[in-house]
Amino acid sequence: MNLVSMNLVTMMYLIASVCFIQALKGLSSPSTARTGNAFGMGGMAIAAVTTVALIFKLNSQAATTGGMGFGLVIGGVVVGGAIGTYAAKKVEMTKMPELVAAMHSLIGLAAVCIAIAAVSEPWAFNIATRETALPFGNRLELFIGTFVGALTFSGSVIAFGKLSGKYKFRLFQGAPVSFPGQHIVNLVVAIAIIVLGLVFCFADGVAPAWTPFIIMTVLAFILGVLIIIPIGGADMPVVVSMLNSYSGWAAAGIGFSLNNSMLIIAGSLVGSSGAILSYIMCKAMNRSFFNVILGGFGGAPVDAVGGAQEQKPHKAGSAEDAAFIMSNAETVIIVPGYGLAVARAQHALKELVEKLTHKGVIVKYAIHPVAGRMPGHMNVLLAEAEVPYDQVFEMEDINGEFGQTDVVLVLGANDVVNPAAKDPKSAIAGMPILEAYRAKSIIVNKRSMASGYAGLDNDLFYQPNTMMVFGDAKKVIEAMVKAVD
Ligand code: TAP
Repeated sequence: MNLVSMNLVTMMYLIASVCFIQALKGLSSPSTARTGNAFGMGGMAIAAVTTVALIFKLNSQAATTGGMGFGLVIGGVVVGGAIGTYAAKKVEMTKMPELVAAMHSLIGLAAVCIAIAAVSEPWAFNIATRETALPFGNRLELFIGTFVGALTFSGSVIAFGKLSGKYKFRLFQGAPVSFPGQHIVNLVVAIAIIVLGLVFCFADGVAPAWTPFIIMTVLAFILGVLIIIPIGGADMPVVVSMLNSYSGWAAAGIGFSLNNSMLIIAGSLVGSSGAILSYIMCKAMNRSFFNVILGGFGGAPVDAVGGAQEQKPHKAGSAEDAAFIMSNAETVIIVPGYGLAVARAQHALKELVEKLTHKGVIVKYAIHPVAGRMPGHMNVLLAEAEVPYDQVFEMEDINGEFGQTDVVLVLGANDVVNPAAKDPKSAIAGMPILEAYRAKSIIVNKRSMASGYAGLDNDLFYQPNTMMVFGDAKKVIEAMVKAVD
């Protein structure tokens, strides 16, 4: 089986890497995102097929000494592929962040399992013989890969529970879990991990130093839980992309140990793009990058999450009233939010905008970077309804226009238009918002006066120029479509 030469493997891995870079480039804009996705899928298919072919080649070479379990590899690909396909087909768009957190946990766990296998039988990975000790460099890479992988696994499991919000287990609740001396405990555990890792790396003898390695791994699992539990409310999206980054670095670390260029390149791309995304999101939510990484400094106070709110007077109107106001406006800006995604109202919304545009109203969509429940959520939603990209504007490009706009229609959005962000004492203090409150008239559609994700009341709803239109976004927008003649 000389069809699979190492040169061919290197070439295929290079092609896959170029595909991944093209994928990231494509995903940076909604208009090229589909092509980007196709590149990503193509790259992953090339990488997976090449790796399986390589294993097949090594397996046939090692046949006389017992083989390498090629059947197990194929079994893993089939079972994993089937579960992945089922999960991807079944998942609702609003549940995407949970799925992503679950996937990250598996990457972390895979890194730990590979590292344990490599420490246990390094000769099977060609990094040492049965008679020689693991080289120091490999031990260090395996220690780092295991540490980051274990932390990613347990942290992602907690993030998954918090994002899904349907489990009663206290650590899976959205509200932060904190205790006195939490950061000191985290620091002590982190130092213990580093010390034990170094003991493992510097240990003498051919046999690996299992005791410090195992204790270090268990402590890393515990640290993953400890750093995610105090994070609550509005910081969760940053945590997910941070864990995304960690999972990439864990894979890259293991790639160095296994001398696998594909793992190093793909892991570094995931690690660095996750870190950049986290930074962008921290900026969009005005959270300190380091506080989020260290855990718990940026979480919303417990009493701000889901707390009872006093009822203040507000104006309410019907979908027909709203349609009349918008039909008579010159300019309308639409602010979509999480509720629009829940109601799956994007197609009805596109119809409404077409009708208004037909009547001569200039309509634009304003997108907040963390509207919804995942990065780019609103862009994906609007793209699904084939909303023209030239009607869609990012926050920094449209914020200056709200003051001169006749009507702002807020659909299932709350935190991203909450002027409380301007109050230094608020839990979302400093988070840049879409400045809907500056518009001449504001129409807000949601089902009640309930708070949004960050659990805060929203003064926009009580402004004298704001009209609330209560109801499910899809039903309300359909009624508006009918009313715009
Ligand atoms: P939110 O602040 O969560 O507000 C959404 C609003 O939609 C709710 O107040 C809810 O009010 C309303 N709603 C729910 N179902 C509805 C339906 N069927 N029809 C009409 N309205 C409905 O949303 P946002 O303004 O998009 O802000 C996003 C928040 O999520 C931010 O705090 C952000 O930090 C956080 N977050 C973002 C991400 C990413 S990366 N985008 C990930 C996780 C968390 P009613 O219950 O009264 O209807």
